[in-house]
Amino acid sequence: MSLMDTIATERVAGIERVGVVGCGLMGSGIAEVCARHGLDVMVMEVSPESAEVGRQRVFGSLDHAVRRGKLSEEERDSAAGRLAFTTEPDELGDRQLVIEAVVEEERAKVDTFELLDRVVKDQDAVLATNTSSIPIMKLAMATDRPEQVVGMHFFNPVPVLPLVEVVSSLLTAVETTEFATAFAQDRLAKKVIHSQDRAGFIVNALLIPYLLSAIRMLESGFATAADIDSGMVEGCAHPMGPLALADLIGLDTTLAIANSLYEEFREQLYAPPPLLSRMIDAGLLGRKAGRGFYEYNR
Ligand SMILES: NC(=O)c1ccc[n+]([C@@H]2O[C@H](COP(=O)([O-])OP(=O)(O)OC[C@H]3O[C@@H](n4cnc5c(N)ncnc54)[C@H](O)[C@@H]3O)[C@@H](O)[C@H]2O)c1
Repeated sequence: MSLMDTIATERVAGIERVGVVGCGLMGSGIAEVCARHGLDVMVMEVSPESAEVGRQRVFGSLDHAVRRGKLSEEERDSAAGRLAFTTEPDELGDRQLVIEAVVEEERAKVDTFELLDRVVKDQDAVLATNTSSIPIMKLAMATDRPEQVVGMHFFNPVPVLPLVEVVSSLLTAVETTEFATAFAQDRLAKKVIHSQDRAGFIVNALLIPYLLSAIRMLESGFATAADIDSGMVEGCAHPMGPLALADLIGLDTTLAIANSLYEEFREQLYAPPPLLSRMIDAGLLGRKAGRGFYEYNR
């Protein structure tokens, strides 16, 4: 272990207070995993209603883990006791690490980073983003501490999937990258890979063109959704097909990532097909809306 690694390991061992901004699909999972690993978690949402929906999502997932034998009732209760929900930004003031997981819209994220820069008092605190595709640099430049800003890209569902992509901008301090890596590995028991600050990082740069190809295939009418998905499940041993996966990710989030990739690289393979946009216009956002390429019981 290098001296840098040792310093990062000691620094993450001292982390007790984490903030999570946004408690949708991803923020709720990140908050849950942090609380399950003994951290005090303050979750911030835009409204009392969305905070309550987020709280129910986290607590429902903790109950689900108990039913599946992944967590004891005592562990669930102590994790629940470490979680608090707020709409008040100042409640994030004492956080040592804040992970942003608001909607995949540049304006919303830039506003969030400006806000975090104002309210988080500890100048050593790390401000992380779970963005799938927006350049870390754009969010870092919304703060007066770009060296403390880093990407920590978790995967859905966060309590199940082990990966975190750690993404450094040109201005991220080496210490911040080391910190984010050690935090994900040592405190959350995640597996880390590193990417430079390019839209989509490693996984989405590969995954999104594949999902878009499946949507184009459906749109052109040469196979059904069920057959496209079965092809990849039964023929390639994928755990789910691309259309079911797009539904799981959320079609709005899939479109937002595709748009960021297209804007960055201007390559046709990232251009979102019209069917994807029309489904979003119709509110068919996938699993979270009860309907996307498939229908779901909510
Ligand atoms: N869905 C996925 O599979 C996935 C995977 C990895 C990363 N991500 C990324 O995670 C982020 C969140 O995605 P999601 O799928 O959880 O979206 P989501 O729509 O489920 O949740 C977003 C949440 O953010 C809240 N929010 C919006 N603006 C806010 C603000 N200013 N302050 C506080 N809360 C705010 C909304 O109320 C909502 O609850 C995005 O950047 C997305 O690209 C998504």
